[in-house]
Amino acid sequence: MKVIRTITELRRELSLMRKKQAIHSEETIVGLVPTMGYLHQGHASLMKAAREQSHIVVLSIFVNPIQFGPNEDFESYPRDEQRDLETARAEGVDIVFIPSVEEMYPQPTQTTIAVSGITERLCGASRPGHFNGVTTVVSKLFNIVQPQKAFFGMKDAQQVAVIEQMVHDLNMPVDIIPCPIVREQDGLALSSRNVYLSAELRQEALVLSQALRAAQESVEIGTAVTAKDIRRLLHEHIGKSAHAVIDYAEIQAFPSLEPLADQEELNAYDDLLIALAVKFGKTRLIDNIRIQKMEVLSHV
Ligand code: PAF
Repeated sequence: MKVIRTITELRRELSLMRKKQAIHSEETIVGLVPTMGYLHQGHASLMKAAREQSHIVVLSIFVNPIQFGPNEDFESYPRDEQRDLETARAEGVDIVFIPSVEEMYPQPTQTTIAVSGITERLCGASRPGHFNGVTTVVSKLFNIVQPQKAFFGMKDAQQVAVIEQMVHDLNMPVDIIPCPIVREQDGLALSSRNVYLSAELRQEALVLSQALRAAQESVEIGTAVTAKDIRRLLHEHIGKSAHAVIDYAEIQAFPSLEPLADQEELNAYDDLLIALAVKFGKTRLIDNIRIQKMEVLSHV
């Protein structure tokens, strides 16, 4: 496994690897797994999917300053390069790209990528500028690596929808591969930010997956019929935690992320996303479940 820190060296190495691979196959598939590091089993599942579907797997580790707001956790975002390298090696990654901030954003820079519409809701509403930071860095990574496939976790379902929209709108020649949410045994969705939670708040954070499971069951057995039923149920469940402060508990069409009006019936939609963002102390957690053609896609 090669650890590379500059764009020039990455391009050189990838060009060599592509040439070698071309001897064995007509088309060389480079799979990119973009991350901000502090890797967990959710990231490992992305690397596994990339390994299965690509000839060359590139993992990027870059805590991207421009997707953090001024009062967010850029400085304190957890980092552990040595452990990340061990995880990447165990998953059979070929190249780990770990650029510095100066390498990714040499000054002055005047170009950003902005997707409108779907970035204005949910996390986009509470984190202004966040998705511009994400789409800018992801398009830079796509230009640098030129992958055929890029792998993203569905825990950030809005991020997946935004990146798919960008790729579609800008005719980027890359397939976006969404991968299922990975959970702890007790249901907590894996996130690098879980490390911030005290034992008490971690226990309380279980209301997220419990609320989603309750919503899923109510849809399945038909006790939740309208968007309002889902919103009420989510608020009831999350309200059981003394420290939970809801940012949003929403149901919307996927991937447009158009919110459903309260009285709208769920069975009018083929593909729905129930999404949560909740603060426990200073830690903001997100989680979601997708319901497609009234069939639950991923079980909580
Ligand atoms: O999901 C993440 O970890 C980040 O938003 C990403 C896609 C690596 C861009 O910085």
